[in-house]
Amino acid sequence: MEGTKETQVKSKKRVADHGEVFTNEREVNAMLDLVKQETERIDSRFLEPACGNGNFLAEVLRRKLNTVDSRYTKSQTEWEQYAIVAVSSIYGVDILEDNAEECRQRLFTIFDDRYTAHFKSRCKPKCRRSVLFLLGKNIINGDATNYCIPNTDKPIIFSEWTPIGKKIQRKDWVFESLAKGSYQLRLFDENDEPQFFDKSIKQYTPVDYLKLGEDE
Ligand SMILES: C[S@@+](CC[C@H](N)C(=O)[O-])C[C@H]1O[C@@H](n2cnc3c(N)ncnc32)[C@H](O)[C@@H]1O
Repeated sequence: MEGTKETQVKSKKRVADHGEVFTNEREVNAMLDLVKQETERIDSRFLEPACGNGNFLAEVLRRKLNTVDSRYTKSQTEWEQYAIVAVSSIYGVDILEDNAEECRQRLFTIFDDRYTAHFKSRCKPKCRRSVLFLLGKNIINGDATNYCIPNTDKPIIFSEWTPIGKKIQRKDWVFESLAKGSYQLRLFDENDEPQFFDKSIKQYTPVDYLKLGEDE
């Protein structure tokens, strides 16, 4: 869809209400090339707070998966593990649920087309389920200006995924504290009181990479 003027706008109303104008492929690539090395690093974390249907995130995933392909196609297990790391480090927020869903579907298709091409009938439904689970957690229908789920006061929660061997550890964080915490530079305030520090709100027992979302 990228690259054509027509598909950069879905409707005049959506442009007026949400500033929804999609970026074309050439601009996406030019901007991502400014941080080329990071886009090719399998575990670099990307967050797009107004991700639309995923023009930037799709290209980031393609680049990360190119790296996975270049290193791990000889071993299905390694390819799966690293592809999952690639997916798990990509985050998006959009205020419109249809955009968030389109973005999840698009990222899943990019993953699944490669997975199927490499491993055909040996592909595991459990691996696909893990990827779908990660995308459900990482691509969020939310309002990035107040850090909440639209029309609620429920905070946006992001999950951090850390590979530990074949397992993955999940830690949940409040988006607002992550966004504001990055400006936290001092240990103590002017009255020598300890400053607020970000804390994860929940830490989960590590689970096998093929068992993500098994009980949800
Ligand atoms: C200019 S479009 C860009 C989409 C995408 N980043 C791209 O470059 O193709 C802006 C997107 O931001 C979303 N948006 C507008 N206000 C938002 C908000 N407060 N929080 C999250 N997303 C928002 C719109 O729904 C739209 O998809």
